[in-house]
This record gives sequence, structure tokens and C-alpha cells, in this order.
Amino acid sequence: MHIPYCVKRCGYCDFNTYTPAELQISEGLTQISNSYIDLLIAEIAQAKLQVGQASVPTIFFGGGTPSLMEPTDIARVISAITDNFGLTDDCEITLETNPDTVDKAKLAAFKAAGINRISFGMQSAVAHVLKTLDRTHNPANLPQVTNWAHEVGFTDISVDLIYGTPGESIADWQESIDAALALPINHISAYALIVEEGTKLANAIKRGEIAKVDDDLTAEKYLMADNAFSKAGFTWYELSNWSKSGGESKHNIAYWLNANWWGAGPGAHSHINGKRWWNVKHPNLYKEKISKNQSPTQDFEVLEPIQIESERLMLSIRLPEGIQKQTLNSDQLNTLSPYLENGALDAGKWAAGTVSLSLNGRLIADRIVREILL
Ligand SMILES: C[S@@+](CC[C@H](N)C(=O)[O-])C[C@H]1O[C@@H](n2cnc3c(N)ncnc32)[C@H](O)[C@@H]1O
Ligand code: SF4
Repeated sequence: MHIPYCVKRCGYCDFNTYTPAELQISEGLTQISNSYIDLLIAEIAQAKLQVGQASVPTIFFGGGTPSLMEPTDIARVISAITDNFGLTDDCEITLETNPDTVDKAKLAAFKAAGINRISFGMQSAVAHVLKTLDRTHNPANLPQVTNWAHEVGFTDISVDLIYGTPGESIADWQESIDAALALPINHISAYALIVEEGTKLANAIKRGEIAKVDDDLTAEKYLMADNAFSKAGFTWYELSNWSKSGGESKHNIAYWLNANWWGAGPGAHSHINGKRWWNVKHPNLYKEKISKNQSPTQDFEVLEPIQIESERLMLSIRLPEGIQKQTLNSDQLNTLSPYLENGALDAGKWAAGTVSLSLNGRLIADRIVREILL
């Protein structure tokens, strides 16, 4: 469930999200909440006509900033999915939350609305790093919002971190790691900063106002993070994701296993049984389509077997279980042998029949998988 609104666009982010100023809307986002949610509910009804019977195992409110929506509106979406499809008994329902947008009462209301997993955009605990990222929040907010979340009954709490921001020292990153590990959380996503073309950050780097990202330093930060997270009881279950036992995000795992999903909202992507489609990007066009009871789909593709296989390899290599050797041909296995010799692949797991990355191999996952794509 894509919520394409943010109070302010962060300097590094090129997600499909819009601010009230960009949309030239005078009413606040609270007023938008109700009417936007009506559109999502209408798309859920369209999904029902196309999908038929299905029991939903995970719902993810992603953004943008889903926590800007009213809890009663989030509850309406969950009811619409329940009424149209039904939820599995242990359905995981996640809300992405900007720490600036909630207080304890709002978190309690999200919990009452049916949200059972909450993911906070922390990014960094260091003020000058947050400033370079052009982020609004104060680092002191994180202990407060995660404690509130814990107090109102959330047990599945995650934070997103970004490492490799220009000007972030090793000591700064250590401070962010330590600050995250001091929070009452059971899941961490840590992403290397991607400098996206056209963002404020990319333009400032081009103009020489902000230094370039140092890739070697970024790799060192990944190793630091894995080391600290592992010592604190968080295990990696995907290249950029660590969790305590049982805290893995079922929703993310479904993406990596190439399961079926319906993405609702402007710009949302869907995948069902080898067909992929994506919605029109702009909220106004999306609204126009839905209001006329038309499909908001912009375009689609039917995946060829070779694309399905390539995606299987690219997604599976990101997981500790890796790729079953018996699914690869002898050319692919021969291509991988130098990586086994130089320690980028886990020798024990290789002997047991899987191509799985070692810690050093995780730093060059993309390079390794490119070599065996068909
Ligand atoms: C939709 S946001 C999370 C919720 C909320 N909008 C917020 O930022 O607090 C998803 C996450 O994507 C990550 N992200 C966005 N742009 C990124 C970039 N250019 N490089 C690395 N991570 C990025 C951030 O860690 C962010 O928390
Ligand atoms: S990082 Fe989050 S809050 Fe910032 S612009 Fe992107 S979606 Fe919005």
C-alpha cells in the first residue's frame, strides 16, 4: 500500500513521493488522508475482481510516509483487505514511519488499527550526517518513538539506517550503530547510500559542495555493521537486513522469493505469476483513473523464462540460503570457482550444495551474480 506523501523531501530520496507544496495543495496531509485512502480501497476492489480468492499473509504500508495518514484511515484499508480477501492468522502488517510524524497516542492508535510491525526511518544518530542527508528529524527522537512503540505494545520494531553519507567518519557510523543497538528493536535494515541522479544531494555533489562517497570506506562500514549487529544477536537474513530470531520481515522475504504481490497506489508495482505491471506515477492521474473506475495500470510485461531465471539468481544470492548448486549448469559452477578459492563463497555451504556468500563475498554480491546470469 503506497502512500505517496512526505512533509518535506529528503535530499537523497528519489522515491515516488510528493510534498503538499509540490502538489500545490493548501489543505494539510491530514485532510488528504481520508480521500486518498478511498482511492486505495477502490483499487483493492479492482484487485479482488482480478485475483479472486486469496488469503493475505502480509500487508506493507510503504512510502512516502504512511505514518502521516490517520490511524482510522489505515484501519479502513486493513478492513477492505480483510473483507475482500481475508488475512492469514499470523498476517504481518507493517507501517513505515517517519519519527517526526508520531506521538505515543498516534502509535497506540496505529496498533489498535491492526498494525503489528513498525519500521522507523532513523538513517543516522549523528546530527551533521542527518544534515547532509537533508533530513528533518532530531536524533533524540529515535529513543523516544521506539520506546513509545514498545510501551503501546509493539514487539516487532525495526529501524532503517543509511551508511556511506559523505562526511560520515568511521566514528560517526559507530555512533549510529551503537545508538540503534540501544533501542528496543528486533530488526535493522542498513542501506549503503545511493546517490540518485537528479536529487538535491547528487546536484550538491556535482557542484563540489559535498564530497563524493568513498566506496572503500562504505565497504568497511558494512563489515563494521555486520560485526556489531551479529554480536548484539541480530543475524543477517538478506544483504541489507538483520533481525533477532523470529523478527525477519515476512513481507521482504516474499519479495526476495519472487512471490505474488499486489502493489496499490501511484507508481506501485505488482507481480502475479510471471506478469508484472506498474501504476501511473502521479497521484493526480492515479486519482483520475480510479475515480472513473479505470485500471490505474500504466504498463505491464510478461516475464520470459530467462528473465524469471535471472531474477531468481539475483534475488537468491542476497539470502544466506543462496542458490542451490544443482540448479546451475557446469559453466556457471566453473565461473564461480575462483570466488570459492578467494573466499568470497562459503566453502562449507558449497560442500553442502549451495552457492552462498561469505562476509567478504557479500561486498561484491552484484559482481558475482552478474557472472552467472544467462
Ligand atoms: C519510505 S522510506 C521510510 C519511511 C519514511 N519515509 C522515512 O524516511 O522516515 C524508506 C527508506 O528508504 C531508504 N532510502 C531512501 N532513499 C535512499 C537512498 N538514496 N539510499 C539509501 N537508502 C535510501 C531510507 O533508509 C528510508 O528509511
Ligand atoms: S526518505 Fe522517507 S521521508 Fe524522506 S523523502 Fe524519502 S520517503 Fe519521504
